Amino acid sequence: MERLLVTGGAGFIGSNFVHHVIEHTDAHVTVLDKMTYAASGESLDGLGERVELVVGDICDAALVDRLVAEHDAVVHYAAESHNDNSLADPSPFVQTNLVGTFTILEAVRAHGTRLHHVSTDEVYGDLELDDPARFTESTPYNPSSPYSASKAGSDHLVRAWVRSFGIPATLSNCSNNYGPWQHVEKFIPRQITNVLSGTRPKLYGAGQNVRDWIHADDHSSAVRTILTKGEIGQTYLIGADGEKNNLEVIRAILRLLGRDEDDFDHVTDRAGHDLRYAIDSTRLRTELGWQPRFADFEAGLERTIDWYREHESWWRPAKESTEATYAAKGQ
Ligand code: NAD
Ligand code: DAU
Repeated sequence: MERLLVTGGAGFIGSNFVHHVIEHTDAHVTVLDKMTYAASGESLDGLGERVELVVGDICDAALVDRLVAEHDAVVHYAAESHNDNSLADPSPFVQTNLVGTFTILEAVRAHGTRLHHVSTDEVYGDLELDDPARFTESTPYNPSSPYSASKAGSDHLVRAWVRSFGIPATLSNCSNNYGPWQHVEKFIPRQITNVLSGTRPKLYGAGQNVRDWIHADDHSSAVRTILTKGEIGQTYLIGADGEKNNLEVIRAILRLLGRDEDDFDHVTDRAGHDLRYAIDSTRLRTELGWQPRFADFEAGLERTIDWYREHESWWRPAKESTEATYAAKGQ
């Protein structure tokens, strides 16, 4: 039986990946998670004896070294992940995303362990709204925010450890995820839970910014594909051809919840707000044979809305303080 170490496995996408692994393989999973505000132990409930949670920091070199030595592969999701938070206080982003990744790389180097590093399309900066181009594996890095710069730096560390020390690592850069267990600070869950709370959704600026949406389950299947079939040292872009502007998404949420599509507020725009992300995932599809399952964004969104309807006891405790933080910034 394979032993996987999943960092950040109690967060939104990491926990989805743990579910995916338990369902589709016979691997044993150890989750290493600091259990920050973004984590949820509940997201790992009911998975049985094949999942173990170790509460700890990826910057703790002794702990990371011991755990890496005990596992066959590391899948590295742990990060500070929210752009707006990185504008308010970049410090934990530099610490976790850079120092934490460095700490994992040193343990992987010492033990020769297989690593998959999970990253974001934001490392490439943004595209103009009228530019037909999409990001590919050879797009130059050009991050905009403290979050994306810290992720770009972590990617560079992984690439350097592959080249200089020959560690057996792959990388992936994925577009915007949606699905169950996503924190209410993020765009889609924030708007769904606003409507469910009787509050109007909040759109930054004019809402023309485009994101390329992918269901978290499709991200998980892509990461497992790369882990098993990916070429060492290679980067794979993950995306499901889900480009939508924010205005379209807010209107879809309102429509699916039976509300007037114009029943939202325009709020203060994000500083340095990236215009458009778009992924060309040809390499992943042609070389490794991956396909997304949730090709229809609106059907996936509807399922996600149902999930938030059914899990109010999970999201409600974080909602008030999250909205208070946004309100203080006019958002
Ligand atoms: P998240 O914020 O929901 O979860 C992050 C998890 O990491 C949390 O459980 C948190 O407790 C844990 N963590 C944070 N600091 C830690 C530390 N120092 N030590 C151990 N654990 C720590 O984030 P997410 O949206 O699930 O993103 C997961 C990964 O996927 C990140 O690397 C992110 O950059 C990447 N990614 C996210 C998206 C997206 O749309 N959300 C898209 C592409 C890539
Ligand atoms: O592209 C991948 C990235 O996607 C990941 O690397 C990040 O971890 C993840 O958080 C996400 O980043 P974004 O900044 O694109 O996601 P967010 O959900 O914060 O915002 C999505 C879009 O919606 C963005 O254009 C800002 C806008 N927005 C966001 C919020 C919270 C609003 O219009 N209103 C809002 O209330």
